[in-house]
Amino acid sequence: MDGRPTSHRVDTVARATPFQRLYEFYRLSGYERRRHEPGVLDFTFGDPHEPPSEAYVEALREATVPQHELWFAYNFGDAKAIDAATESLRRHVGMPFEPADVHLTTGGFAAISTALKIVGDPGDEVLYSLPPWFLYEGLILEAGLVPVKVSIDRDTFDLDLDAIAAAITPRTRIVIVNSPNNPTGRIYPPETLERLAAVLEDASQRNGRRIHLVSDEAYNRIVYDGAHFRSPTEFYPWSFLAYSYGKTLLSPGERIGYLAVPPTMPDREELRAAIEAIQITGGWLFPNASMQYALPKLETLAFDIPLYQRKRDVMVAALREIGYRVSVPEGTFYLFPEAPGGDDAAFAQALDREGVLVLPGTMFETPGFFRICLTATMATIEESLPRFAAAFDRVG
Ligand SMILES: Cc1ncc(COP(=O)(O)O)c(C=O)c1O
Repeated sequence: MDGRPTSHRVDTVARATPFQRLYEFYRLSGYERRRHEPGVLDFTFGDPHEPPSEAYVEALREATVPQHELWFAYNFGDAKAIDAATESLRRHVGMPFEPADVHLTTGGFAAISTALKIVGDPGDEVLYSLPPWFLYEGLILEAGLVPVKVSIDRDTFDLDLDAIAAAITPRTRIVIVNSPNNPTGRIYPPETLERLAAVLEDASQRNGRRIHLVSDEAYNRIVYDGAHFRSPTEFYPWSFLAYSYGKTLLSPGERIGYLAVPPTMPDREELRAAIEAIQITGGWLFPNASMQYALPKLETLAFDIPLYQRKRDVMVAALREIGYRVSVPEGTFYLFPEAPGGDDAAFAQALDREGVLVLPGTMFETPGFFRICLTATMATIEESLPRFAAAFDRVG
């Protein structure tokens, strides 16, 4: 008898190293208790540190009041919600997206996993750059695909296009790009995206099989200094755009986002029913009906981006003054400084002893760095600065 309590799927997915590291940190290390201890300053995950805005709460409240008997029926995508998302996509990306190509999902997770399954066959390779969002590997493995990783350029935090070109094989089917990037805060410039498109086109021709781009744009409205975000989907027609409202609205527990197929994608009409089928068989990956009704109002809201820019500036200036090496993020709400002394795990522990919680770069498969999340309040940031100085002195 096979006495294994779990499936082979669990072995490959849940025990994959990045997933395991995240699970150990979040669920087993005592973090959930420690983050609430008095005096502890938490800079780990992108959770809200302040109550939601009244406008956000009101939008949700209104959306839960039924207006007819089908209000809470199965809902593949409310027309008004899709129109609002499409209109905003057109404005932000500058391409005439069609409502039929905007598929509402339970956030970025579902949008990315759906895109992977739409074009990936078992054994196909999915290429992405380190440091990554730590759940790419789990989503790729769960889809029966094979993760292939290359590093970004560690000096500029830009994509290393030579490394990407060199890592492409005849099995490469998908390349994931995340801009603005978690955790580096880098927005990839148009020249990089043009060259990336040329690399993917060349390789597709050489392989005789199309490589697709999955553009993970969870942070595409969180940009600073008046930066103009350019979507990778503008540069390469065979692209999927994954968006989540959870970041812009600082409400990651209320699940809504979308997977959009740009109007430049050839044969995109054939994808429409396929995407819906994958969303259903994936376990109903459509947002709750009430979140869909709230969407037209939610589209008009965002957290206070200028305040976040000030938080970024205060933190970067203070860390540099202390002696940290840190680049200025162009978007997102993360900083990715180098770990003083080089050992990111040891340095995260040194900070922990000062009562400051951060994530070591090993969690992003990029040792030697650590991540600070700026969803913490300005008061928390100010309180943390002497502690960042003390940890730096202790190691330095
Ligand atoms: C780069 C990136 N992509 C996707 C996601 C998933 O977003 P959501 O939880 O809103 O689905 C996250 C969340 O942290 C992220 O950082």
